[in-house]
Amino acid sequence: MSNLNNIFLTDQVLDLIADSIASQGYVLLENFLPIDLASSLLTDAEVLSRTKFKAAGIGRNEDNKLDSKIRTDSTLWLTQKMVPQVTYISVMERLQQGVNQRLFMGLSEFECHYSHYQKGDFYLRHLDAFKSQQSSTQKNRRLSSVFYLTPDWQVEDGGELCLYADQKQVEPLINIAPMFNRCVLFLSDVFPHEVLTSNNDRYSIAGWYR
Ligand code: OGA
Ligand code: MN
Repeated sequence: MSNLNNIFLTDQVLDLIADSIASQGYVLLENFLPIDLASSLLTDAEVLSRTKFKAAGIGRNEDNKLDSKIRTDSTLWLTQKMVPQVTYISVMERLQQGVNQRLFMGLSEFECHYSHYQKGDFYLRHLDAFKSQQSSTQKNRRLSSVFYLTPDWQVEDGGELCLYADQKQVEPLINIAPMFNRCVLFLSDVFPHEVLTSNNDRYSIAGWYR
């Protein structure tokens, strides 16, 4: 593991992340990455979105059915091959290790994709995982992460992430603006959530620990 990750995910920061996940099930982190790394990820996402992003499906390794009634963003899975993607994955793996040491969640795999919402795009209310739905071939998603890359986000840009306490709740627990270099982590099978209609380009990296 490189030094860089150790500087930005100090033991203290990892303590705070673990405490928040244990007590409230989610945590919001500002200035998550060194600014150069966050900027490189945005540039990478912008460039790749022109040619490589595909209309998003629901779920992975399933038949990746498109469902534009539910979500309209386009996505690209990060690979382990190039900077800055490999650096992002290594930071998230350090986070995985830190959370495992503190909470014994047994997180064993991390996967993530870039996501691009254009004007009018949204993702309706959903859960990233369902309790007790663990297939033998695929481990369930336990912890979700979203890292935001929208520079100069303004209220009129919309595209907030709304987390709900449970399926019945009408009022969101928290509304998270997709501000540059902000990261949110939440338990995948606990919080229904939605992405409100975005009125501008919105870039992010959504990831899951299994
Ligand atoms: C997802 C998701 C939230 C966001 O991709 O599953 O809920 O804020 N994303 O982009
Ligand atoms: Mn989701």
